[in-house]
Amino acid sequence: MNSFDVTIAGELNLDLILYGLPEVLPPERELLASKMMLTLGSSSAIVAHNLASLGCKVGFSSCVGSDSFGVIATDRLREAGVDVSTVHCLGGDVKTGLTVILPREKWRNILTCPGTIFALKPEHLDMEYLASSRHFHLSSYFLQRGLQAHVPELLRELKSKGLTISMDTNDDPDDLWESGLQKVLPLVDILLPNEREAMKISRCDNLETAIARLTEMVPLVVVKLGAQGAVACRGAERHHSAALNLDAVVDPVGAGDSFDAGFLSEYVRGADLAACLRKGNLAGALSVSRPGGTEAFRDSAYRERFFREKA
Ligand SMILES: Nc1ncnc2c1ncn2[C@@H]1O[C@H](COP(=O)(O)OP(=O)(O)O)[C@@H](O)[C@H]1O
Ligand SMILES: [Mg+2]
Repeated sequence: MNSFDVTIAGELNLDLILYGLPEVLPPERELLASKMMLTLGSSSAIVAHNLASLGCKVGFSSCVGSDSFGVIATDRLREAGVDVSTVHCLGGDVKTGLTVILPREKWRNILTCPGTIFALKPEHLDMEYLASSRHFHLSSYFLQRGLQAHVPELLRELKSKGLTISMDTNDDPDDLWESGLQKVLPLVDILLPNEREAMKISRCDNLETAIARLTEMVPLVVVKLGAQGAVACRGAERHHSAALNLDAVVDPVGAGDSFDAGFLSEYVRGADLAACLRKGNLAGALSVSRPGGTEAFRDSAYRERFFREKA
């Protein structure tokens, strides 16, 4: 009997989002934001939080520093029902990571101080715990610097125990798209990139070729297309699902991670691809309707009303 529907090993930190800054930031000036939000960040943790909010049993392995940001981030996961018994508090002076996001009209700056994000190592992982699940998800591959070299071994072991595997690489801060990724892709069952990431990973400049190349390596490729929704490709089978039409978009922070959570929540229940995509888009839309990646999911009354009205 598995303890979890999904286990995740990855980064756990907060996002500090400053809204309403000028498009250009001149040096040496006092620049005023109109609003701020300190909220749960990090792709791995947002996926875990939102999967649990959608009713999945989730186990999360990570490490944080012995500072209040680590406590707040861990509490957010616990409050959503995520099992945090394998979140380690590291001693010493390593700080919990932090991401500062500066959204503008059409783009955003994302500034990350990695701290404990780079400190997660194989010795922090309990294989029995991670394997007690139907599915394992890995996010932000390029930020998992302490784990990267061991990911193929980790995934091989989890697959041998019968788990299915999904991965969302997110961006590569070095923009090299290497770091052993080619050894990892053949071990992944579901790859969840956005459009840019799909082209970067496959080293081509159009989406169609990117999808063709990726589906040669990964059985199921799901590409997130922002306000265009998402497309899922499994061999010759292809499904597109439109995004929801929203009156107001607050910010796209965590939309891709929320999509992952929606998609996977249906996948682990054995739903068909169309249903997985629909839930992914619904969860992505819910995320962009409120600040950050988890605020709309934390508010259960709001979340349930949104699903009733939009589903
Ligand atoms: N403006 C929007 N309106 C409705 N849904 C959206 C919007 N932007 C994003 N989404 C939803 O969130 C998902 C992920 O967004 P996207 O920006 O493609 O991913 P990422 O955050 O990884 O770059 C989309 O596939 C879609 O379902
Ligand atoms: Mg993403």
